[in-house]
Amino acid sequence: MTGPALAAFASVSTVDSALQAAEAVLAGAGVPSPRVDAELLVSHVTGLGRGVVRARAVTRAPLPDDAVAALSEVVSRRASREPLQHITGTAAFRSLTLQVGPGVFVPRPETEGVAQIAIDALRAVAAEHPLAVDLGTGSGALALALATEVPHAVVTAVELSPEAAVWTRRNIASVGAEVRLVEGDLADALPELDGTVSVVVSNPPYVPLGMVPRDPEVRLHDPSLALYGGEDGLDVVRALSLTAKRLLHTGGVLVIEHGELQGGAIREILQADGWRRPETTTDLTGRDRATTAVR
Ligand SMILES: C[S@@+](CC[C@H](N)C(=O)[O-])C[C@H]1O[C@@H](n2cnc3c(N)ncnc32)[C@H](O)[C@@H]1O
Repeated sequence: MTGPALAAFASVSTVDSALQAAEAVLAGAGVPSPRVDAELLVSHVTGLGRGVVRARAVTRAPLPDDAVAALSEVVSRRASREPLQHITGTAAFRSLTLQVGPGVFVPRPETEGVAQIAIDALRAVAAEHPLAVDLGTGSGALALALATEVPHAVVTAVELSPEAAVWTRRNIASVGAEVRLVEGDLADALPELDGTVSVVVSNPPYVPLGMVPRDPEVRLHDPSLALYGGEDGLDVVRALSLTAKRLLHTGGVLVIEHGELQGGAIREILQADGWRRPETTTDLTGRDRATTAVR
């Protein structure tokens, strides 16, 4: 345990005082949503749901000493800007609870909307068992969302990083979905599926090399292979366009997540590669977030 958390927790004995102490330490460390993280960390150490934690704060319910000590420890870690999801060991993604930790990209809420686009495209396919592919699957978030929400589809996931693939396998097992994981480079992946796939989805690395993310949680804890896409951030997108073109049958749909300023450049790449109808859509905050195209 380190200093600030320990001192702040010295006189804590109730849920509300624990939340206040945790929030103060996290706010002091620049954590973006200190109250939310405080509630989630109390929830983590007590095993209580977040709603119950809030209710117990209102009634000033007691918090046992061992829970206070455990909270002090995890608040300390969070104050050093370790990702919340690495501390709790899980990340929520749509209806799934995925296991995450060092070596794998933590799935983001904005990717849930990208999953929805791919799910809608896959549900619209008339085939009895349409094929879907997730290129650069990381925790398996997109592949598992497709497999669980479109259960008649046959889903394959590709991942280059052996460290990330450990988490993919763990999540496939814990979710209990039938996703086939293929380890390797998406650039030459799955030649046996050429011309047979209905939907290809990907959240590739797309950060330009010179644009190091500001948040320590991202900069220090997400794997570099998951973040950076070369000089302009689009190296993997260029490879992805060619692979998806090869995998999809005519009429098949490609869905790519990207940064808010990359829609135009990605549409140009797709147009140059001969894709039909490249279109960029925005996320819930109104920012460009995904581009789709038809084979
Ligand atoms: C931004 S993360 C996305 C992970 C997951 N799909 C998600 O949305 O949370 C990109 C993933 O692509 C993987 N990756 C990077 N380059 C790759 C390549 N050439 N072939 C296959 N996977 C790659 C990374 O290891 C990482 O897991």
